[in-house]
Amino acid sequence: MERTFLAIKPDGVQRGLVAEIIRRYETKGFTLVGLKFMKVSRELAEQHYDVHRERPFFPSLVDFITSGPVVAMVWEGDGVVASARKIIGATNPLTAEPGTIRGDFGISIGRNLIHGSDALETAQREIALWFKEEELVSWQPHLTPWLQ
Ligand code: TYD
Repeated sequence: MERTFLAIKPDGVQRGLVAEIIRRYETKGFTLVGLKFMKVSRELAEQHYDVHRERPFFPSLVDFITSGPVVAMVWEGDGVVASARKIIGATNPLTAEPGTIRGDFGISIGRNLIHGSDALETAQREIALWFKEEELVSWQPHLTPWLQ
């Protein structure tokens, strides 16, 4: 079953949007298989954003993601990688569509509330980077027939 990695960034936690953000994935019908509340080390932040290492915004991005606690999550379901990105919206919250998390709650590209893996291979890399195998829970929700 397909899995993706999502992280509510420090601004999402500070603004009290944790439940609102998790709710969107729960009510969509995806299954939570990993969840932890944590401060991110510089080492983890730099590895996570390794593809952006040469970009001018890299130092401020690492400062931001390590500035306060984040909610790291793994979600499971058919097509969850692409669908989770749709629910997040465009990178810049000002141009993100209303109805998306960034479109509804953000205005700044440097404070865009949530990270989501951008492809299947990225998801696999990020899940392995953030979670140990034993921290992930395989389970079957008792879905109502209407959601199946
Ligand atoms: P990116 O992977 O391009 O976006 P996304 O989070 O939508 O997958 O960039 C990673 C993060 O870097 C992005 O969420 C916010 C930050 N960032 C900036 O601060 N300035 C920028 O110009 C870009 C492109 C990204």
